Amino acid sequence: MNKILFPFLLLSLFTGIEANAQKANSVAVNQLVIVANHSGPIISKDIYGHFSEHLGACIYGGIWVGTDSKIPNTFGIRNDVLAALKEIKIPNLRWPGGCFADTYHWRDGIGPQSQRASIVNTNWGGFTENNSFGTHEFMKLCELLGCDAYINGNVGSGTVREMSEWVEYLTSDAVSPMTILRKQNGREDPWKVKYFAIGNENWGCGGNMTADFYSGIMRQYSSFLRNYSGNHLYRIACGPYDFNYTWTESLMKDPATQGMFQGLSLHYYSVVDGWGYKGSATKFDEREWFETFRLNLEMDKILKGHSAIMDRYDPEKTKGLVVDEWGNWFRVEPGTNEGFLFQQNSLRDAITAAIHLNIFNQHADRVKVANLAQMINVLQSVILTKDDKMVLTPTYYVFRMFKVHQEAQLLNIDIRSEDYVYGDKKIPAISASASIDKEGKIHISLANLNPNKEITITCPLIGDKYNKVTGEVLTANEMTAFNSFEKPETVKPALFNGFKMNDGVLTITMPSKSVVVLELAK
Ligand code: AHR
Repeated sequence: MNKILFPFLLLSLFTGIEANAQKANSVAVNQLVIVANHSGPIISKDIYGHFSEHLGACIYGGIWVGTDSKIPNTFGIRNDVLAALKEIKIPNLRWPGGCFADTYHWRDGIGPQSQRASIVNTNWGGFTENNSFGTHEFMKLCELLGCDAYINGNVGSGTVREMSEWVEYLTSDAVSPMTILRKQNGREDPWKVKYFAIGNENWGCGGNMTADFYSGIMRQYSSFLRNYSGNHLYRIACGPYDFNYTWTESLMKDPATQGMFQGLSLHYYSVVDGWGYKGSATKFDEREWFETFRLNLEMDKILKGHSAIMDRYDPEKTKGLVVDEWGNWFRVEPGTNEGFLFQQNSLRDAITAAIHLNIFNQHADRVKVANLAQMINVLQSVILTKDDKMVLTPTYYVFRMFKVHQEAQLLNIDIRSEDYVYGDKKIPAISASASIDKEGKIHISLANLNPNKEITITCPLIGDKYNKVTGEVLTANEMTAFNSFEKPETVKPALFNGFKMNDGVLTITMPSKSVVVLELAK
C-alpha cells in the first residue's frame, strides 16, 4: 500500500465510522483498524525473553535442584520447569544478574561442584550459596530449553581480564589456557553465546558510576570481548532506567563509544505508590489496580523518549533497545525474606504482561530484546515453586498466548479506545497489537483494563480477507485472583467465542479485566 495514502485512508475510514457512531448516539467508539497488507518490522522473538538471577529461590530451588534431588530433574535442572518453559518458547535467558552479576566471579562456578567456593550473596538476603549452578549448568539449561544465552558480565567488581577470559572460555575453539580449562571441566566444544552485557545498572548497584565514567570503562571492556570461532557477540552496554535520558544521550553521542556496543539496556519497574510503600501483590483495591496500569503504560513514553535520542545518532536503527528488566514490583509475601523478592502473581500481573508485550511489539523497530523480571519465584514470575510443587502464574499464560507474535511481522494498526476512568485520572481501557506470521495468519492481542465492564471493539480489516477466527481468553471473577499451590488453576486461559466476523469487520466483546488473543486464518 502507498505509504503516503495510508494515513488519509485511515482518516477517511475513521471519519466515516465516527459519523455513523454519532448518528447512532453511541457513547464510546472502540475501533481497531488492522491493515493486513501493510506490515511493519519483524517482532524479534527475543522480546519474549526471561531473566534468572541468583536471588531468592530463582536459581536454587526454582531451576536447580541438583542431580541427587528427589525432584525429577535432568542434569540437576527441574523437569517440570523445563517443560513449562519450552511450552512458552522461551527465546533467550539472561543470567547471572542483575545486581548479582557485578559481584559474580565466574571462576567460582566452574570445576567439580564439591570443590566450588561458597559465597555470600551480598545483594540479596546475605544468602550463602555453594556455586553449584555455574557456567556449565547455565549453558546446559539453555541447551535443554533450546534458547539463546544472555550472559551479564561483571564490570562493578570484576576486571577486564576476567570478563575477556570468560568469553574465551565460553566461545573459543583455539588452543589456549581457557579452552584447556573448559575441556578439563568436561566441555570439549565451545558454546554459542548470543548476548553479552557489559555490566548491570552501573549507575547504581553496578558501581555508582557517572554516565561519562561508565562510557569510558565500557569501551575498555568491550575492546577485549572478542568474537571467537564464528560466535558473534551482541554486546549490550548498560543503559538507563525509567526516564533517565541523560544516560542514553551520553552513551549515544560519541560515534567511537557507539561503535563498542550493539544494544543498550533499559530497566523500568512499576512500583505502586513508590519504593517506600510498594503495594501488596494480592491484597489490593481498584485504586492500586488502576495505578498499576497507569504506571505500566508509562513504558510507551519511556521507549519513545529513549528511541528519539537513539534515532538522532542511529537513524538506521542498527542498535537495539534491550529492556532486560521490566515488570511489577510489589511487597514480598508476608513471612518471606525481604531480600528474596518473592511475590504472588494475580490477574493484574497478567494484564500488566499483556500491556508491556503489546507495547514492545509496537516498538519492534527499536526494541530487540526484553526480559521479564524474573522467571521463577522472584518479582513478576511466570513460575512459582515450593519443594516439588510448581504453579504456572497468570503472567505465564500471557506469554503462552502471545508466543504467536515471535518473529511475526508487526501489522499497522490504529486504535481508538474509550477511557478507563478512576477518580480524576484516566487511561485507555484497551491495549492491543497485531502481527502476521509466516503462514499468513493474523494474531491480534488485546487487553481490557477495566475491571467493571465488558468492552466491545470493532475491527475493520483492510487489505485482505479472512474467514476463520479462533481465540483464547484469560480472565477471572476477581481482580485479585491468583494461582496458589493449593488452587493452581484459578486463572487459566479458556476458549474464546465473543466475536463476530461480518463483511471483513470483526466485532470483539472482551469480558471485563481480560486478555484476549485471536487468530485469523483464510
Ligand atoms: O530484579 C531485581 C533487581 O532489580 C536486579 O538485580 C537489579 O538489576 C534491579 O535493580
